[in-house]
Formats: sequence, C-alpha cells, structure tokens
Amino acid sequence: MNKRPLLKLKIVSKPAPTAAEAPKLRPSYHPDVKPVLQPGFQPDLRADSLAFCLLGAANAVAQVRTGTALPQALTRVFAQNHAAPQARGAIQDISYRAMRQLGRSETLIGLMTSKAPEPPMLAALLCCALALMAAEPGEQPYEEFTVVDQAVTVATSHPDMAHAKGMVNAVLRRFLRERKALLASALQQPVAQWNYPQWWIDAARAAYPRDWQAILTAGNAAPPLTLRVNARKSTVADYLAQLAGAGIAAAQVGPSAVRLAQPIGVQAIPGFAAGVVSVQDAGAQLAAGLLDVRDGMRVLDACAAPGGKTCHILELADVELTAIDADAKRLPRIAENLERLGLSATLQAQDAQSAAWWDGRQFDRVLADVPCTASGIVRRHPDIRWLRRKGDALQLATLSAKILDNLWQMVRPDGKLLFVTCSLWPQESEAQAAAFAVRHNATRLPAPGQLLPTGAAEQDHDGLFYALFQKNAA
Ligand SMILES: C[S@@+](CC[C@H](N)C(=O)[O-])C[C@H]1O[C@@H](n2cnc3c(N)ncnc32)[C@H](O)[C@@H]1O
Repeated sequence: MNKRPLLKLKIVSKPAPTAAEAPKLRPSYHPDVKPVLQPGFQPDLRADSLAFCLLGAANAVAQVRTGTALPQALTRVFAQNHAAPQARGAIQDISYRAMRQLGRSETLIGLMTSKAPEPPMLAALLCCALALMAAEPGEQPYEEFTVVDQAVTVATSHPDMAHAKGMVNAVLRRFLRERKALLASALQQPVAQWNYPQWWIDAARAAYPRDWQAILTAGNAAPPLTLRVNARKSTVADYLAQLAGAGIAAAQVGPSAVRLAQPIGVQAIPGFAAGVVSVQDAGAQLAAGLLDVRDGMRVLDACAAPGGKTCHILELADVELTAIDADAKRLPRIAENLERLGLSATLQAQDAQSAAWWDGRQFDRVLADVPCTASGIVRRHPDIRWLRRKGDALQLATLSAKILDNLWQMVRPDGKLLFVTCSLWPQESEAQAAAFAVRHNATRLPAPGQLLPTGAAEQDHDGLFYALFQKNAA
C-alpha cells in the first residue's frame, strides 16, 4: 500500500458544507475537455485486479462526461487494455453503476473538495469508487476498504492522476467516516437525489406531473432481459417449457414476449443462436403487431438498424421488406439478425429524409422508428441523460418531422404509417404526431401513444411512443 500521500487538491475540512454551499457542479456535458490526458497509457496493474477494472471504468465514464456514448467509450477502453472477458464484465458493471449514480457521486465530490478534480478521469475514478461503496449494505460487490485501496492504487499508477492520489484516499476515507451526514447533505439537491440533470428532472415533472417520480426511479433500475419468441420457430408456451427444462425462471409479458427472472448472457439463452428468440423490450415488440402486416404486402422500415422491428415484422408475415438506415455502419447488424433468424430483406444505406433512392412504388406499410433523444430507454442506456442537452429534443423533432413528411408520399392510399419514438418528451412524440396528422390530413388509428416506463410489474417496458396513421383513399 501507499505511504501517506501529499495532498495536491485541498480537502475541505469538517463539518461537511451544505449542498447549497458546495462548489458549483460542472455542466453535464463539456465536450471541449480532454477526458484522459494520456489515453494509450496502461499502468502496470494486474489484469484481474479491481484496480485494473476501476481504471477501465473511470476511463469510460470520463469519456461519457466529455460527450462519448458509453458503449463506444467501453469499446475504446477494451481495444486499449485487452481486458479478459471477466474483467470486461466488471468494467462494464462498474461504469453502468457509476452512470446511474453520477448525480449523487458528483455532488458528494463537490461537498468534499474545494475545486473540481482535473482531469475528468480523476473525478470519474472517484465516481466509480463511490458508486461501488454507496451500494446498499449487503449489495456491495466489494469490501469498502478494498475499493479505497484499489482506487488509490489506480491513482498512484497513472500519470494523469498520480498528483492527486492523496486526494483520492482522503475523499474516499472521508466518505466512509461521514457517509450519513454527507449523503443527507448531498440528497438535498435534486440532481443527487434523482441522478439526472436538473433540466431532465424539470422536463419529466412538467410532462408527467403524476408519474415523474416513478419514471425517474424506474430509469435508475437495472432493466429486465425480455425476449421475443420467433413465431416461425416456436410458441411462447413451448419456449417457456424449454426454459423451465433448462432451470431458467421466466414469464410471458406480451403476445410474443418472455421476461427472464434473472438476466443472462445472450449465448446462454436457450435457442438464441438458432434464431428461436431475440432480445427485445416488451414495449418495442408492439410495433410489428400495430403495423398489421399480411402476406404479400410491401413494407418499408425507414430507420431500421439494428433491425429488431424489421425481424419481428418478417417473423409475422411473408412480406417484401425494404429496410433502410442512414448509418451504413449499422446495416451489418440488421444483416446478422436476419441471418440468425433465417429471414431476408432488402437492405440499403439511405436517408429517410430524401426520396432520391425511391423507385416510386408505394408501400402498404411504412415504419418510421425515428432518431430521437432516447429518453425513454435510460434504464438500458444510463449514459443518455448525461449526454443529452436541453435543446436536443427540439432539434431531433425537426429532423423527424422531415423524415415523416418525406415518408408519407411513399404510403399507398389506405396504407398505414407507424410513427415510433423511444422518447419521453412530448415535443418529439405526441406534439409531433398531432402536427403531422393536421399537416397531412391523416387519419389517426388506435395506438398506445406514450408508454410510461414506470417499472410497474405488469407493464415493465421501455418508454416508447406509438402513433398510427392511415392515408385516406384518393
Ligand atoms: C431508434 S433507431 C431504430 C431502431 C430499429 N428500428 C430497431 O427496432 O432495431 C433509429 C435509427 O435511425 C437511423 N437514422 C437516423 N437518421 C436517419 C435518417 N435520416 N434516415 C434513415 N435512418 C436514420 C439511425 O442510424 C438509427 O439506426
């Protein structure tokens, strides 16, 4: 272990300041800051140690704080540190925990330090350690003193952080000593209480005066693993029996949806490789049914990658399906899913705002699962809340309006267009749907509208929005 370190950052002495007195928090997004000063540097840490995993997670969290999505950040970390599968799992687990507790951890750090730790990787290391230490008693994955020791080891071993090893030690030990008072003080701030940026909390409260607390709470829970049974290969009843035979507890939660009692890796899911099931949230599974596809129809899936809904449509009927996505790099994901499930579609990298690629033949059904803030799927992507900015919903709503307007000409008379978002914000969803119906004199057919992701047992789904339009016959 390290000798008593020099403190380079001043540690605020007792008593803990109140949250109102704490230094101002950073804005939730600061893309001009370098998250890691020496990105390629790999300290000499044992690859099976907690320190190694804390460093990987801190690197990923720091990247999120400067604007990179967590999955991409983790991909970069793994490419650099060549972590073994078990260490990858731990790095992922720590960074996802840190995301779900970032508001509280950053507030605690603000209470215990006189200025924001620099570089961001240092603050991120503290956030990762605090996320492990702040878990409920009995749910802590590591002994608290092990976490402190390993966090100090990380700081000591890395040139970006060695200057502050004493600060890391002092902050984490102080948290252990004064946990109750510090938490009481931190939790006075909504950002610390809810673990969302203040603007997000305000927006949720304004949009859902009755349900905002349940929605925010559910967004911090670990998501369930829900599967879609491929109707071409099995039935829900047969698949539940198969799971029971394998000792896996599960329940039916939708027409084709089965939720496992405990999440497991995809490779361990019975029948996954053979295409019997796919991973898909119960809310997302409503799309194909709402489209009401029948054999022989021509269907366009206009924002298709990674192909979850594309594949579901093809499982339900023999349709001629064109799947486009503006991001060419995401098309192989659709192709992999189709291949695993034994299905086929025409795939094209195209922009749904343009008709330049269209041959002029109208479609019976169009699915517009448009790009959005993804505010309805934060339980699966807890980084999203820290990456988005207040104005994003409006910007994305402008883009999706252009997509919808362009796609409408491609729907045949009497044909249907299903508009889907995974957003909670009305600007992107209901307001958009209402304005679209007026602009195009489109008939609105029954559809669920906004699914509230409150985590209720029988309605355990993401926060999707559905509006279904029919084109009036000419
Ligand atoms: C919500 S995701 C689609 C999820 C997909 N439907 C599924 O169920 O697996 C939105 C997709 O829209 C794509 N996208 C964004 N802008 C687009 C555009 N202008 N034209 C077509 N696709 C676009 C993104 O690349 C992304 O893959």
